[in-house]
Amino acid sequence: MGICWSYPPKNPTPTGTVTPAGISHSQTTSGSYGISSTTTASTTTTTFNSASITTSSSGTSRRLYHPNLVKLLGYCYEETELLLVYEYMQKGSLEHHLFGRGAAVQPLPWDLRLKIAIGAAAGLSFLHTSDREIIYRDFKASNILLDGSYNAKISDFGLAKLGPSASQSHLSTTVMGTPGYAAPEYMQTGHLYVKSDVYGFGVVLVEILTGLRAIDLNRPTGYHSLTDWIKPHLHDKRKLRRVMDHHLGDKYPIKAAFPIAKLASRCLAPEPKMRPSMKDVLEDLQGIQASTNKTVEVRGDH
Ligand SMILES: Nc1ncnc2c1ncn2[C@@H]1O[C@H](COP(=O)(O)OP(=O)(O)OP(=O)(O)O)[C@@H](O)[C@H]1O
Ligand SMILES: [Mg+2]
Repeated sequence: MGICWSYPPKNPTPTGTVTPAGISHSQTTSGSYGISSTTTASTTTTTFNSASITTSSSGTSRRLYHPNLVKLLGYCYEETELLLVYEYMQKGSLEHHLFGRGAAVQPLPWDLRLKIAIGAAAGLSFLHTSDREIIYRDFKASNILLDGSYNAKISDFGLAKLGPSASQSHLSTTVMGTPGYAAPEYMQTGHLYVKSDVYGFGVVLVEILTGLRAIDLNRPTGYHSLTDWIKPHLHDKRKLRRVMDHHLGDKYPIKAAFPIAKLASRCLAPEPKMRPSMKDVLEDLQGIQASTNKTVEVRGDH
C-alpha cells in the first residue's frame, strides 16, 4: 500500500515528489470515490507539468478551489505509480451526454445545455483571472464533467500552464491539446495564450448547440473538422436552425441560441486578440440566460 495524502496537504510534500499542486491528470473513474487510473510519477513530464497550475508557496493551489473545477480529494503513491482521487462526478462527461449512444443516454434539454456552458465558462474564467493567469490548454467536452445536478466542472489539469504576463504567449516546443479544439495559433506555431482556451470554449459551445463533434471522420470530406465549415451557420438564423442539434427538435429558444452562436463565432476568431475574454463570455451567457428566463416568466404571466 502506498502513502496517501488528503488534499490540500496538511504537511509539506516529501522532497523529490511532484508537488500536490502539480498533480493534474484525471482518468476514467470507477467506483464511488472517483478514483482515477494511474499515472507513473516518473513519467509525469508529458501529462504533468510541475510548472503547471501553481507553485504551492504562492497559495495558488488554494485559489484553485472553485465550484466549477473538479476537486482533487487526495493522492497516493503505489510504489512508482501515483493515484489521484477526484470527487466523483455522477453524470460523467458532457461528451457522453452530447455524443453518447444507447438507451441510457437522454438528449440534454436546452436549459441544461445553457447551464453547463455557463458553469464551464465560470471555471475557465476563474483560471484565467487568477493572480497568475492559468491557461488550461485542453478544453474539450470530455474534460467537462457533470455532478448529480448537472453542474459543470472542469477536470484534467494535465496540460495546464501558468500564463505569461501581459499579452506575451507561451511558446511550446511540443504542441499538445486535442485536434479540433486546439486554437490555430497554437497548432501552427506553438504559441499559447489565454485566448487559446477561448477558442476551445468556442468549439465546445458549437458542439453544445449542434450536437456535432469537433472532429468526425464519418462526415463527408471537407466537413471532418467542425470549425472548417460551421462559421457561416453561426451568423444566420436560418442556417443556424439547420445545424442545431436535431435531438432538441424545436425545443430551444432561437432568441438565445442565435446570440450564443454569434458568441461562439467570436470565440473562434482566427486572431487571439479578436476573441472575447472568458469573463466577457461568461457575462454574455449569463445575460442570455437571464433574458430567456424573463421571457418565459412574462409568457407565464399571461
Ligand atoms: N472525477 C470523475 N468522475 C466521474 N467520471 C470521470 C471523472 N474523471 C474522469 N471521468 C470519466 O472518464 C472519462 C475519461 O476521462 P479522461 O480524462 O481519462 O479522458 P478524456 O477526457 O477522454 O481524454 P484526455 O485524456 O485527453 O483528457 C471522462 O470523459 C469521464 O467520463
Ligand atoms: Mg480528460
